[in-house]
Amino acid sequence: MAQFSLNINGKSVQVDVDPNTPLLWVLRDHLDLVGTKFGCGIAQCGACTVHVDGEAVRSCSYPISIVEDKKVVTIEGLSEKGDHPVQKAWVEHDVPQCGYCQSGQIMSAASLLARNPKPTDEEITSAMNGNICRCGTYTRIKAAIKTASQTL
Ligand code: FES
Ligand code: FES
Repeated sequence: MAQFSLNINGKSVQVDVDPNTPLLWVLRDHLDLVGTKFGCGIAQCGACTVHVDGEAVRSCSYPISIVEDKKVVTIEGLSEKGDHPVQKAWVEHDVPQCGYCQSGQIMSAASLLARNPKPTDEEITSAMNGNICRCGTYTRIKAAIKTASQTL
């Protein structure tokens, strides 16, 4: 076990965990931030996507030992009132079905638009490629990203 000082959603927190513990389990089990989901556990589905220093990463495969001194943002911290342009567009397009994959989808979309506010269709497809939706909401996801991009 080792102690780590983390910056999660703008707050400083300390956790005492094994250095190999994936960030996902620190978020869910130690910090009660359960909006980030466990899907595959092997960086293949995107359900666990969060931002580390603004970049979308798969928290299931991201050891806590390399998180220190970086800024982590989860779905709970993306906006204060759920009013990030991507979240608003998600509501407008009624994107979710079961909802399980959606926090990961939103975090990937927000990361894409932060670095590329006007992505092409191909760039959206490429950026969202690693986020799987078993309910098949892909058409609405793409439409919502385009709507969000128009407001940026
Ligand atoms: S749970 Fe992390 S990518 Fe699937
Ligand atoms: S909305 Fe059900 S898995 Fe994506």
